[in-house]
Amino acid sequence: MEKWWQKSFGYQIYIRSFKDSNNDGIGDIQGIIEKLDYLSYLGVNLIWICPFFASPMDDNGYDVSDFYNVSPDYGSLNDIKELILKAHEKGIRIIIDLIMNQTSDEHYWFKESRKSKDNPYRDYYIWAPPRYSNGQRKEPTNWASFFGGSCWEYDELTGEYYMKIFSKKMPDLNWKNPQVRNEIAKVAEFWLDLGIDGFRIDAVAHIGKSEFIDSTITPDEKYKPEWEKYSNLPIVHDYLREMYEKVFSKYDIMTVGEVGGRALISDALLYVTPNRHELNMVFNFDHNWCNNGWNRQKGEKLVINVPHMKSIFDKWQTGLQGKAWNAIYWLNHDQPRLLSHYGDSRYPQESAKMLAICLYFMWGTPFIYNGEEIGMTNPHFKSIDDFKDVSIHTQYKINVLENHQDIEDFIYQVSYSTRDNARTPMQWSGEEYGGFSKSRPWNILCDNYQKINVENEIEDQDSILNFYRKVIAIRLNSGYNDVIAFGKYQQIKKDHLKLYAYLRIGSTKKILVLCNLTSCEFNLDELEYRVINIILSNYDRKEVPKTFAPFEAIVLEVE
Ligand code: NOJ
Repeated sequence: MEKWWQKSFGYQIYIRSFKDSNNDGIGDIQGIIEKLDYLSYLGVNLIWICPFFASPMDDNGYDVSDFYNVSPDYGSLNDIKELILKAHEKGIRIIIDLIMNQTSDEHYWFKESRKSKDNPYRDYYIWAPPRYSNGQRKEPTNWASFFGGSCWEYDELTGEYYMKIFSKKMPDLNWKNPQVRNEIAKVAEFWLDLGIDGFRIDAVAHIGKSEFIDSTITPDEKYKPEWEKYSNLPIVHDYLREMYEKVFSKYDIMTVGEVGGRALISDALLYVTPNRHELNMVFNFDHNWCNNGWNRQKGEKLVINVPHMKSIFDKWQTGLQGKAWNAIYWLNHDQPRLLSHYGDSRYPQESAKMLAICLYFMWGTPFIYNGEEIGMTNPHFKSIDDFKDVSIHTQYKINVLENHQDIEDFIYQVSYSTRDNARTPMQWSGEEYGGFSKSRPWNILCDNYQKINVENEIEDQDSILNFYRKVIAIRLNSGYNDVIAFGKYQQIKKDHLKLYAYLRIGSTKKILVLCNLTSCEFNLDELEYRVINIILSNYDRKEVPKTFAPFEAIVLEVE
């Protein structure tokens, strides 16, 4: 039976940077309400809102201190109720983050837990005694944290370590404890009863941990990044099935789990095969690293690794086909801006439009990240104060302050990959602060906001924004909606080094998508298919070109 989320087009909102309605420099819930008309104009029918719960904001809300309340930065529970109502009136469904792996250290449970070894909340978190070598205190294991350093933090009061795979203000919950599982189930129920339509489940791959045995990888590093020690372990599936049975199965909702970069297709199938009753779809990270961006030397040009990218798309499109459902996205709040990552500043329009065609004609539920639809870029970081992300400050402390890395090298190295890239204020207009707020925003702004902004792009018929609107309209509301949602995916011309080409084969219609992923021109061989219609072209072609221009992309109905 068809599900509503199979024909949804999602839009991710990083609330802190989306729209500030009360001019305190921070985006908020009323800001989202103000922009619902814009979202309808864009054409999406589903939004994912990043965490807005009470939080000390060490990690911008992924560190929750009260799951049942809204942070005063963002508004109130009444604002959320108003948002749900008004969004639903416009046919827009809402999913929110369900944060199951950790809380803030300022959460009541943790404040109690750290008080004594026999506190009733002690076992809500993962505590372990120190080890000693040559009289020196050592962490219970040598595992690294995602944000730098060890995944353990020592707590003086009881003389034990607690686990924290993200920041030290984000202690990991102990999912072995049934009380913890019940508490999180209650949280999920609370928000579903308020009327939300599902969850993006944060860091779900990490809720199970392996036995505390040292890692033996990368011998030169003190803390070993062997993420498998706490990623995608079999026990996670037991926990999810329990959540499904207790909560998810009782509502008509969608769930999408964040399963990170290490998940294999076989892992994904465990999460999302329908009769396993866990999740509806997962976000994988594989396509996030298909260029030389993360280890680029100074001055080196960014280049997409075309064969790698093609093979990853193929892997996920064919790997789950006919068996489960996919989620597709280019970026989120943890990745560089799409245009600065896989686009080309010499061809901003062409490359941005090509990337939209390339991904959003595949099968799966798509998610645009706010600002992607207008071609926002990474900002320019000048000093360490321009970075807001806790993970950058943790690495700065270790690399620069403790190990004396040159600060300029450090800034160069992290500027490209920092999560701050995606978190600059949304560029609504050419007004001061990009129309995001009337006060100085909490984060730096991209200096191109006078050119790249929603207001300008609404006016310009050829803008990236208007192109995204076309893509969304074709996907949701045209005679091609069935073949795009459910048609069989099949890659062709697999060995081509510049072209990515795939078919979508439905019961009555067939679509061919051709994308030049590079800035080079090339001649296209004769197509084996008869073209019936040009559905979309980023060069506004009236017939199929013999020579493919830089970043050219075309969607054809064929037979
Ligand atoms: C994944 C989220 O996307 C990221 O922003 C956050 O820091 C971690 N999970 C921890 O919650």
